[in-house]
Amino acid sequence: LVLFDCHAYEQRSFQAAAAAHVHRLTYLPVRLSRETATLARGFQGVCCFVNDTLDRAVLEILANGGTQVVAMRCAGFNNVDLQAASALGLVVLRVPAYSPHAVAEHAVALLLCLNRKIHKAYARVREGNFSLNGLMGFDLHGKTVGVIGVGRIGHCFARIMAGFGCRVLAFDPHPDPRVADGVHYVSLEDLLSESDIISLHAPLTPDTRHLINRESLAKMRRGVVLINTSRGPLVDTQALIEALKQGQVAAAGLDVYEREAGIFFEDWSDTGLQDDTLARLLSMPQVLVTGHQAFLTETALQNIAEVTLLNLDAFERGAPLENAVTPASVLPPRI
Ligand code: NAI
Repeated sequence: LVLFDCHAYEQRSFQAAAAAHVHRLTYLPVRLSRETATLARGFQGVCCFVNDTLDRAVLEILANGGTQVVAMRCAGFNNVDLQAASALGLVVLRVPAYSPHAVAEHAVALLLCLNRKIHKAYARVREGNFSLNGLMGFDLHGKTVGVIGVGRIGHCFARIMAGFGCRVLAFDPHPDPRVADGVHYVSLEDLLSESDIISLHAPLTPDTRHLINRESLAKMRRGVVLINTSRGPLVDTQALIEALKQGQVAAAGLDVYEREAGIFFEDWSDTGLQDDTLARLLSMPQVLVTGHQAFLTETALQNIAEVTLLNLDAFERGAPLENAVTPASVLPPRI
C-alpha cells in the first residue's frame, strides 16, 4: 500500500495499527495527481485523503500501473471519479465513520469561539489588555440552529446543540426516523429563514455545490452565524464574503475552503498566501478558519488507520466489502 499526502501524525497511527496486519506500507508526502500517479506503479493498493486528485486520468495511470484498490482514509469521496474507477475495475473503499464526534465537536468549538470571541480575547489578554470592548456574545440557549445534512456528523452536532437548549431544525433529503428528540425536519427554505446559526454537514455532490450562494444567503436571518466543517465548495466563497461585509452573515467558522487543495495541510508562513480570496477571509475578525482539522483527534486517527487496514484485509480475502463506494453511493435526493 502506498499512502499519498501522508503526514507524520498519520504515519504514526498507521504504523501502530499495521503491527496487527500483513500489509506493507510506504508513506509519501506528495499529493496524488497526474504528475505523481506513476509513483504508485507496482502497488496493489493506493491510500488517499481529501485533497488527492482521483479523476479519470489519474485512475487510468493507477490501473495501468497494477493498482487494484483505492483505500480512501476519509469519509468523503467527492474527489474520486467513481464512474471511471468502476469502468477501470478499481475497487474504492473508505472509512465512513471514524469519529463523527470529532467533526461535530470541532463545529461546536468554532461556534463557541466565534460567539464568545475567544480568538480575540486570547490575543488581547496576552498583551495585558483586559478591556471587554468588542467581546460581546449571545446565549446559545434558546437560539435556533439549522443543521443541513443530518447523517452521522450532523446528527451528533444536532444532539450537542439540543443539549445547549437550542431549538434544532434539520434539512436532509433522506430524513432519518430515528433522529434525536428535539430535532425537527423542515424544508430548506424554512431552515434558512428561521435559523440563528446554520451548520453544514452534507457531502459534496452536484446538488450541494454552492448550496450556500447569494440567493440562499439572502434568505437567511440577518446576523446569522455560518459554520462549515463539511466541504469547501458547499459555499460560494465570494458570495459569503459579500454577505459578511454587509452584515447579513455576522460570523463564519470554516474548517474547509473551496480551493483548499494545495494550500491546506502545508506551511505557507514563509512565503505568504497566493490565494487572495482566502487572504480576504483571514483578514476578517468575524471569520475563523481552521485548516481542515475537524477530524484530527487521537480517536479518529486510530479508527482511520484501523478501518483502512481492515478494509484491505477484507479486499485481500475476497470478503464482502461493506465500506466500498460505487457510483450508486451518490444517492439521488428523495425530497
Ligand atoms: P453521512 O453520509 O453520514 O451524512 C451525510 C448526510 O447528508 C446524509 O444524511 C445525506 O442524506 C445528507 N445529504 C445528502 N445530500 C444532501 C443535500 N443536498 N442537502 C442536505 N443534506 C444532504 O456523512 P457524515 O459522516 O455525516 O459526513 C458528512 C460530511 O462531512 C462528509 O461528506 C465530509 O464531506 C465531511 N467531513 C469533514 C471532515 C473534516 O475534517 N472537516 C471529516 C469527515 C467528514
